[in-house]
Amino acid sequence: MKSKDIQNFQNTVLDWYKHNKREFLWRRETPEPFLTLVSEVMLQQTQTSRVAEKLPVFFEQFPTIFALAEASNADIIRAWKGMGYNNRALRLRDAARLIGERYNGQIPQSLDELLALPGIGRYTATALMSFSFKIDIAVVDVNIRRVYSRIFFKMETTASVAPEKEINEIADMIYPKNQSSEWHQAIMDIGALYCTARQPECKKCPLQIFCISAGAMIEYTSPKRAEPSYNGIPRRIWRGRTVELLRSASILTSESINHFLFGEFATQDDHKWIRQVLLTLEKDGIILQNENVVQLREN
Ligand code: ADE
Repeated sequence: MKSKDIQNFQNTVLDWYKHNKREFLWRRETPEPFLTLVSEVMLQQTQTSRVAEKLPVFFEQFPTIFALAEASNADIIRAWKGMGYNNRALRLRDAARLIGERYNGQIPQSLDELLALPGIGRYTATALMSFSFKIDIAVVDVNIRRVYSRIFFKMETTASVAPEKEINEIADMIYPKNQSSEWHQAIMDIGALYCTARQPECKKCPLQIFCISAGAMIEYTSPKRAEPSYNGIPRRIWRGRTVELLRSASILTSESINHFLFGEFATQDDHKWIRQVLLTLEKDGIILQNENVVQLREN
């Protein structure tokens, strides 16, 4: 794009956002860093509507970094119910502990310090810097990468994306300085509303006239990665069901877990599968197994 077109493009994005942005709890003028930390970790794995629903409940239970730091594994896993990967919740709590110890509860502002915290990757670190600390920095998540790929590079299919290095170069160049926060959230909204992964709505997209790929991509769904599964149900779901049982019952034997999950006539294979599931949960620090007794790990 020529520099005049870039300006036009930037104005179109920001103007669209001003009138059409989605209102969310985490979309304050300058959101508290703790709000951004928790919401962005949640948003990386869970849809926005679910996060919007869960966030207030989470903050009621853990209103500060220090409250979160004190949460046991079992507390945090219970609070994370319905939000997917429990490991992320544990890492978030671990980060809160370190922020309490190292920084007296104040989330640090530099990229290096943020990246050194558990569970905080480049996306979450730059989101914090951009949205809460108002630092001029490029933010790239899968959605932003998809939108930039399509606008600036000719994508053959809806599943294609441009190489990371080229996306990072575009990302550093394209956002208007002093407006990193609005800019990146605008691109995310356009990615969620029009420039979606599977069936983009190019005809309705406000960025259509700037986009090299608009209307010209073959709709393509990439084959799902093979996931270990049993009875046609992925292990992730079995793990979820098992944790769900432990959330309400606190202590169970592996036999009773089997019984709950497979009913009265559980087979040897069913038992074997659940033992494997329990092992992966134990390895991830989510449960404890002792003799034949299983429970959520408390710390
Ligand atoms: N997905 C991840 N972070 C988001 C945000 N801040 N706004 C909208 N969608 C998001």
